[in-house]
Amino acid sequence: MTYVDAACVPLRKTGQIKIYGPAAFDGMRKAGRLAAECLDMLAEEIKPGVSSARIDRLVFEFGLDHHALPATLMYRGYRKATCTSINHVVCHGIPGEKPLREGDIVNVDVTLILDGWHGDSSRMYALGEIPRRAERLLEVTYEAMMRGIAAIKPGGSTGDIGHAIQTYVEAQQMSVVRDFCGHGLGRLFHDEPNIVHVGRPGEGIVLKPGMFFTVEPMINLGRPHVKVLSDGWTAVTRDRSLSAQFEHSVGVTETGVEIFTLSPKGLTRPPYRA
Ligand code: MF3
Ligand code: CO
Ligand code: CO
Repeated sequence: MTYVDAACVPLRKTGQIKIYGPAAFDGMRKAGRLAAECLDMLAEEIKPGVSSARIDRLVFEFGLDHHALPATLMYRGYRKATCTSINHVVCHGIPGEKPLREGDIVNVDVTLILDGWHGDSSRMYALGEIPRRAERLLEVTYEAMMRGIAAIKPGGSTGDIGHAIQTYVEAQQMSVVRDFCGHGLGRLFHDEPNIVHVGRPGEGIVLKPGMFFTVEPMINLGRPHVKVLSDGWTAVTRDRSLSAQFEHSVGVTETGVEIFTLSPKGLTRPPYRA
């Protein structure tokens, strides 16, 4: 894998890893903050009786109100502003009119394009009182993402990230989904490199200052295996066990890592209750 100055390549996947400069960091800070503000706004809206379609409409309107477009709209045939993944849905759940119920857990994944930059982030929301095992799953998944991010530094590798996540999660008797991974992003939604959430230290791709990517582990209470439903999108656990995911967009700095999608309201550790 080779690296290129992002300012010198066309706006598409080139098979190289783009290295971004200070103006791009600024763009990602703004787009990331907007996505985080949108997720903050949802914390007050997501309660029993609300449908995921309503959540989706709120995100669509929030985007337009802030001069941003949801990146998933018309992306590879997807037609919604968010993915809403409930209970045993691993990712890419399609918003629908069915009301959420007390005890459900739901991931809302928002990507907003602001001035051409993609801010991609997701969080888990608890609907009222949730079972203790669901609460533990949310805690472990959040911690797994943060441990993965803490492993990021120049000279480190993508394998360091995966290793930090995998060792922690498996020690909790939970499992890491293999079929979906984090991704480079910037002016593109999905770019090189893939960020796999399992791995071994030092393996994979070397991290360099100026790289942008997501860390977005999906963690299951049961086995890691998933299947995609006949709608072509919804990924569920094969054993129907509960699944959770958190996602941040980050940039590698000279000294470590910057998280672009931190919550301005300080809604970090779940659960956030309305
Ligand atoms: N936001 C998701 C991610 O984290 C991608 C969703 S693509 C869609 O990469 F088409 F399913 F919306
Ligand atoms: Co993503
Ligand atoms: Co996302």
